[in-house]
Amino acid sequence: MIESLLAEWDGETVIIRFDKATGAWIIIAVHSTQLGPAAGGTRMKYYPNLETALQDALRLAAGMTYKFAIPGIETGGAKAVISTPEDLDTQARSDLLRRYGKLVNQLGGLFYTGPDVGTSSEDMDIIAETGAPYVFCRTPSAGGSGDSGPITALGVFTGIQVTCEHVFGDASLKDRRVLVQGAGSVGATLIDYLYQSDAVVLFSDVEEDAIRHFRDEIGLEFVPAEDVYTTQCDIFAPCALGSVLDTDTIQQLNCKIVAGGANNQLTRSEDANHFLSSGILYAPDYVINAGAAIAIPGMELRGWTRKEAEKRVIDSIQGALREVFELADQKDITTEAAARLIAERRLAI
Ligand code: PHE
Repeated sequence: MIESLLAEWDGETVIIRFDKATGAWIIIAVHSTQLGPAAGGTRMKYYPNLETALQDALRLAAGMTYKFAIPGIETGGAKAVISTPEDLDTQARSDLLRRYGKLVNQLGGLFYTGPDVGTSSEDMDIIAETGAPYVFCRTPSAGGSGDSGPITALGVFTGIQVTCEHVFGDASLKDRRVLVQGAGSVGATLIDYLYQSDAVVLFSDVEEDAIRHFRDEIGLEFVPAEDVYTTQCDIFAPCALGSVLDTDTIQQLNCKIVAGGANNQLTRSEDANHFLSSGILYAPDYVINAGAAIAIPGMELRGWTRKEAEKRVIDSIQGALREVFELADQKDITTEAAARLIAERRLAI
C-alpha cells in the first residue's frame, strides 16, 4: 500500500508526478538532508506498478544517506525513480527526461542527480538542458565528469581486495575465482580490473552483446542465470539489480565473500544473519559501492582532479570496510548491522 510505504518510511520528502504524455511515474525520494543537499542517481526502468517503483525509490534513497554518511561526505541521500512504460521511443524518452529535468531544477538544489540503472551520461546531458546546475555526470564534452560506472568499479575492486585480506590474509586476487553478476556500467570495468590482476573471472549477464563480448571475445567463463548462486567461486560480486540476496539464495551460495557494486543487494537487512551462519563475509553494498558518491560531488562541486578523486575513493573505501569488519568482529554482529551502526553514529552528530 502506498500510504503505509510512505507512513513507515523514515525519510523526509517524496515528490511524485504522473507524466501524462508518456504514462511514466516520476518519483523523487529525499531521504535525508542532514549532512547537506541530497543527491542520488536517476533509475529509469519499467515497474509493474507505482507501488513497486515507490518501494524501490524509498529503499534506494535511504541507502544513499548511509553511502554518503560512512565516508563523511557532506551530502544527503536521495534517489529518483522514473517508472516508464515498456515501449518508449527515443523521442518520447528524451522529452520525458527534459520534463524531469525541469522538475529537478524547480527543486532549487534540494536534490542533485546522476546516472543509475537505465540512465547514462548522455541522458544526464538531456536532463541538464532543463535541470542544470543540479545534474552530475554529464558527458565530458558537455562539461561533466562522464559515466559514474568506472569510478564505482574502482571502489568495488578496492573493497574486494580488503575483503580478501580479511578472509585469506592476502589482498592479492591472483588465481581467485570471482563471479561478476552483471557486466554493465560497473560490472564491465570491474571485470577489467580483476582480469588485469590475474583473477579467474566468471560472469553472468542477460544482454546478448555483453555475453558475446566477454565470453566470445575475451574468453571468460559464462555462467547462466540459473546457476549464478550455486557456482563455486571465492568471491561473488553482484553488479546488476538489487534484491539478489535473501534466505534462499544466501544458503545456496558456494563462495567465501560477497562483494559487489549493486545497490540494495539484500532483500531484507535481517537476511544478513544468514551470512554469519554460512561463514561468508559480506561487504555491505552502500559501503563498497560508494565510489561515485565519494568522487563525483568532489570533482564537480569541490574541484578535485580525477586523480585526487580516485585516491579518495581508494582510501575511503579501504578505511570504511576495515572499520566495518572490525566492529562486526568485535560485537559479533553482521557486517550489515555494523555498517548501519557506523552510519547512524555519523548521522547523530
Ligand atoms: N548510481 C550512483 C549511486 O548509486 C548514483 C550517483 C551518481 C550518486 C553520481 C552520486 C553521484 O551511487
